[in-house]
Amino acid sequence: MTADAKILRALRTAALSLSVSELATQAGLTPDELEARIAILRGAGYEIELVPHLGYRMSGVPDRLIADDLSGLLSRNGAPLKIAREILVFEETGSTNDVAARLARAGTPEGLVVFAERQTAGRGRLGRRWDSAARKGLWFSLLLRPALSMAGWSRLTTWAALGVARGLEEVLPGCRAAIKWPNDVYLSGRKAVGILIESAADSSGNFAIVGIGVNVNQTAADFPEELAGRATSLRLAAGGEEVPPLDRQEVATALLRHLDTLYDRLDEEEGDGFSSLVAEAETRSCLLGQWVEIAGPAEAFHGIAEGLEPDGSLRVRREDGTAVRISGGEVTVANWQNRA
Ligand code: BTN
Repeated sequence: MTADAKILRALRTAALSLSVSELATQAGLTPDELEARIAILRGAGYEIELVPHLGYRMSGVPDRLIADDLSGLLSRNGAPLKIAREILVFEETGSTNDVAARLARAGTPEGLVVFAERQTAGRGRLGRRWDSAARKGLWFSLLLRPALSMAGWSRLTTWAALGVARGLEEVLPGCRAAIKWPNDVYLSGRKAVGILIESAADSSGNFAIVGIGVNVNQTAADFPEELAGRATSLRLAAGGEEVPPLDRQEVATALLRHLDTLYDRLDEEEGDGFSSLVAEAETRSCLLGQWVEIAGPAEAFHGIAEGLEPDGSLRVRREDGTAVRISGGEVTVANWQNRA
């Protein structure tokens, strides 16, 4: 951890002020070096006051993603999380998935997280565009090299949706995060998070890029017309413009911590292993029991979304009684009355 990461972590977690000597010790700096770093952090937008006789305290944070702040928030006993060993923040990029994939091909080990304040070519599943307005949300990608057989990599879908759903509930107490299979996360019946997982194998080994787009602080007017009525943000779900914007770094931290906690369970077969993730994803599913349409490369068909299979795929019961296991494509709730 850098000295700035240690300063920010100490100030963010202190209940009250921290004396100059205490903060300097925690950051591994002399009081003079600390003063110089504090001046730089203030320049970056952190509101850090020096209260006479008491010491430093932080009264405001900038609405910017800052790698040092994120890595300080994300450390556990001074060590980084397995899935967030290294954090990069770009002001603007095409797609964070592409940046992470480029670095993967160059041999970067797992645990890289790439954030961008704005994406100019953010993409979603099935070739769709992903709206990634500057500073409104979290647009980030994780580079992972899970120790799973290639067939087991589809488990990442369930893992990602579940980690994100748990993280959202931590930052929005009282809200329920539902999963629309395979891995969209919904709040109050509207999509708040989209996840795009891309995997590849090359001379650097197998890797997966897990791209996560979280609508955090958009108001209704911020969404483009085509998303009106379908998309939401965490702020809207928390009460709308009445509530202050959320600290995006705290949201990112909550999501990454939950993803990290669940990551080791991906390859566990017994007890609290992967089957328990599937069981929880099933309880959070907003499709189960619904009449759905499945569109894919073959002709679209309908059925009742019945449950999740042990590998996380969706089981759909057709009207003729046959069960079909779905592992990809687009599933939408359909109107039972209009069935052929
Ligand atoms: C979807 O719902 O279709 C998936 C959306 C995934 C969006 C994220 S934002 C970060 C990462 N970079 C991208 O270009 N896409 C993903």
